[in-house]
Amino acid sequence: MKITFSVIKADIGGWVGHSSMHPDLMAEGDRCLAKAKKSGLLIDYHVTKCGDDLQFIMTHVHGTDDKKVHKLAWDAFINCTAIAKKLKLHGAGQDLLTTAFSGNVKGQGPGVAEMVINEREAEPIIVFMADKTASGAWNLPLYHMFCDPFNTIGLVISSNMHSGFKYEVHDVKESKKIVFNCPEEIYDMLVFIGAPSRYSVKAVYSRETGEIAASSSTQKLSMLAGRYVGKDDPVCIVRAQGIFPAVGEVLEPFARPHIVEGWMRGSHHGPLMPVSVSDAVPTRFDGPPRVIAAGFQLANGKLVGPVDMFADLAFNNARQQALDMADMLRRHGPFEPHRLPLEEMEYTTMPQVMKKLSGRFKKI
Ligand code: F6R
Ligand code: MG
Ligand code: MG
Repeated sequence: MKITFSVIKADIGGWVGHSSMHPDLMAEGDRCLAKAKKSGLLIDYHVTKCGDDLQFIMTHVHGTDDKKVHKLAWDAFINCTAIAKKLKLHGAGQDLLTTAFSGNVKGQGPGVAEMVINEREAEPIIVFMADKTASGAWNLPLYHMFCDPFNTIGLVISSNMHSGFKYEVHDVKESKKIVFNCPEEIYDMLVFIGAPSRYSVKAVYSRETGEIAASSSTQKLSMLAGRYVGKDDPVCIVRAQGIFPAVGEVLEPFARPHIVEGWMRGSHHGPLMPVSVSDAVPTRFDGPPRVIAAGFQLANGKLVGPVDMFADLAFNNARQQALDMADMLRRHGPFEPHRLPLEEMEYTTMPQVMKKLSGRFKKI
């Protein structure tokens, strides 16, 4: 059975500040999606949150970029924004960059990850959702999952993964894409995906069957809006087991927290901390950045789940490491490498300060 798996998310008002999502907004999101399920537009859905982002996880048969499904999400975000405005939540409607829906939420602010799959006999799917970071945050974990035998032993000892995976990489600044065959081209690929502020892994495909293995959101909010409107807070869908890495191989990269862009004012480096859904409330210095993982089995498009995958105690050490990394980075205060390089900062006073001091700079 061909199923479309769509995750569409937006920050349409934070509670309190940019830390969490108010239950009334989640309830409205749920009401809108329940109506769409009843009408037959959706097979199933799950509404959740990660920090101040409202997440719609949906299954249907209409394919990616479907106008009706995208409009459903857009209209739900509009309704939720009205509630956010009434409650005077912080940044109500912040990710809705346009006033009218134009056929596809991509380019209008919300983040989108979608894939069309042939549902297998058993179809485990993990949805990763992050807050206070940018789309390139998935590059390193996706590399470990599908390229690194020290993470994914299946690449070595499972015959149906031994031929490797294809990576579709997007240049988010120049709107170009390229496909790399891995493992042969990992050195070439790393030149690009090692620079995650510019190059993002959009999708991964099995070379055994050509089937899609992973799909991520790559929208860059600040580039869409031409101004600071918060970080992208990306999502990523990953299929597991069989010709794909096992669930534990998919989760394993997050047991060693890596440093991502985002955190306070979208202008800092910080560790990506794997947490349970209830712990995805980033308050310390508006962070540190969080990632949650919702696990589902699909049954004819029905979402059997979620299991809160990072609630596992075995991620406690990763959390402690992330907290230690956060302390170390925070010590740098306004200095790099905690603060992002000038050209990557979302918030900056540089132009004003430069203008004010321009007459005082003397040639050396
Ligand atoms: C980062 C984030 C927050 C805000 C900060 C200032 O993605 O959302 O760190 O950037 O709280 O927020 P505003 O500009 O809304 O006062
Ligand atoms: Mg926010
Ligand atoms: Mg957010």
